[in-house]
Amino acid sequence: MSKKRILSCMQPTNQLHLGNYLGALKNWVKLQEEQCEFNLYGIVDLHAITQPYDAAGLKAATQEIAAAYIAGGIDVSKSILFVQSAVPEHSQLNWLLTTMTQVGKLDRMTQFKDKAGKNKEKAGLGLYAYPVLMAADILVYKATHVPVGDDQKQHLELARDIAATFNHRYGQEYFPMPETIAVGAGTRVMSLRDGAQKMSKSAESDMSRINLTDDAETISKKIKKAKTDPDALPSDIKGLDNRPEAANLVNIYAGLNDISAEAVLKEFGGAEFSKFKPALADLAVAKLSPISTEMTRLLNDRAEIDAILRKGSEKARALATPIYKEIFDIMGFWS
Ligand code: TRP
Repeated sequence: MSKKRILSCMQPTNQLHLGNYLGALKNWVKLQEEQCEFNLYGIVDLHAITQPYDAAGLKAATQEIAAAYIAGGIDVSKSILFVQSAVPEHSQLNWLLTTMTQVGKLDRMTQFKDKAGKNKEKAGLGLYAYPVLMAADILVYKATHVPVGDDQKQHLELARDIAATFNHRYGQEYFPMPETIAVGAGTRVMSLRDGAQKMSKSAESDMSRINLTDDAETISKKIKKAKTDPDALPSDIKGLDNRPEAANLVNIYAGLNDISAEAVLKEFGGAEFSKFKPALADLAVAKLSPISTEMTRLLNDRAEIDAILRKGSEKARALATPIYKEIFDIMGFWS
């Protein structure tokens, strides 16, 4: 079997938080150790402009995601870190792929429905076409494996659909079908204020999330103030049913320590939160504060980040260009 070609991306919107770290970045760091043809990690700024955004802050937001990638463990000697808009083949392929995408399929995308809300008529074409650009991100490298969370699985399926349409229409098995690498169920991090809501960068209370830029004191305070229930921790995983806040803190402990929730309960079953929370706070500080320290250091030298992004984007472009050329030829264009 040929080696994996791994790609994933994040949007440069607001700051990254613990959910992005445990749900995505930490897995990417592990994937770097596999025998792959390449690991590509992108910052998808063209996606970030599909909703109202701050033009004056876009560049800084791009640098901040890059800093989070690096501080979180993406090693630029093993992975390629690039900016989507710096590789114009993404947008060029996007256009070609629109001609292979049925609007009926885009109509079914739940993320569009969520983001457009009731006012679908006024939603931008970019927001609607967002999954086609995402397919281009993947196919322009003929990526074979894409680590994404549950919320992106439908988009991945569309990317496979588009790839299959191309292969069928042009009569050759050109694109491999990109597979989802599912990130584990335990990595879904919920709000510290409400165990039924995902931890989110847009939630109004900063106490609901741990940002990757939070310092040790802030991390510790947020964990200690996290919402819980009055009971002690159960010894059995079933005992977490209907206890979303308790389950979330156990999952966070498990994720940070790379162990199962069962193993956490083996250690802490029967313990009160007055004992578990300080242990979780210490663990979170130990694992996360080096990341925030490194991010702060990197963000004080944005020229260094720019140099890394420039080099990575050049490498990404070198991979994309020949593939784009082949697609162009297969589609019959004059050149
Ligand atoms: N839509 C993804 C998200 O919001 C980001 C993304 C864009 C992506 N292009 C991609 C993820 C390609 C994986 C592969 O999380």
